[in-house]
Amino acid sequence: MKTETLPPKLSPSLMCADPFCLRETLDEFLRCGVEYLHLDVMDGVFVPNFTLGTDLCRRIKAYSPIPLDLHLMIGAPEQKLGWFAFGAGDIVSLHAESTRHLQKALAAVLERGGLPFVALNPATPLCFLEPVLDDLAGVLVMAVNPGFAGQKMIPSTLRKIAAVRALLDENGRTDAGIEVDGNVSPENAKKMRRAGADIFVAGTASIFKPDLPLSAGLAGLREAVRP
Ligand code: DX5
Ligand code: ZN
Repeated sequence: MKTETLPPKLSPSLMCADPFCLRETLDEFLRCGVEYLHLDVMDGVFVPNFTLGTDLCRRIKAYSPIPLDLHLMIGAPEQKLGWFAFGAGDIVSLHAESTRHLQKALAAVLERGGLPFVALNPATPLCFLEPVLDDLAGVLVMAVNPGFAGQKMIPSTLRKIAAVRALLDENGRTDAGIEVDGNVSPENAKKMRRAGADIFVAGTASIFKPDLPLSAGLAGLREAVRP
């Protein structure tokens, strides 16, 4: 277990939000002090689903002061960064499996002012990170196979979070964050936090539940990952 971990941050996944109440949801997130807005972008090829489009991402960026956490599940992301509005303080996660030019893609995110994160699918080994340890601001560890909300955490991903934390720390990157995405329930979040994660994607497993006020769901998840 890593002794000093980065302060925990919450990143609600807007693909799980009720689209008919998006403005009120964004206002509530601001009131509740969430640190990021997780925007899942899917192209139907890299993952078998479509979700938030570029126009909606732009509108959300223009409306809310909360930093973005763009999760790009798209092929050749380095060719498409200009389709998205992001800047200083915004996380942009690119899947290591989605491009032949990962280092170039991460550098392009940095050039545009974003925080480049490398996203890893559950079966993707850590060795993908080694050549780009100097280029990344963090790692997004998928606890499920990307594409759909409501899935169950793959247990081996807990060991993967700990291994990523160890790899980053051994290479002097104690500043680099670890985000975890997929089935981040309060129970799972406790284990993920202990393994070394510090950014938690809040979806249907934690805050988007029928009859549960967003503020209560967020408070429960915040409590679960409390330092
Ligand atoms: C899955 C998405 C996740 C998802 C999280 O591909 O990347 O952000 O919405 O939602 P739950 O908590 O339902 O797994
Ligand atoms: Zn996501």
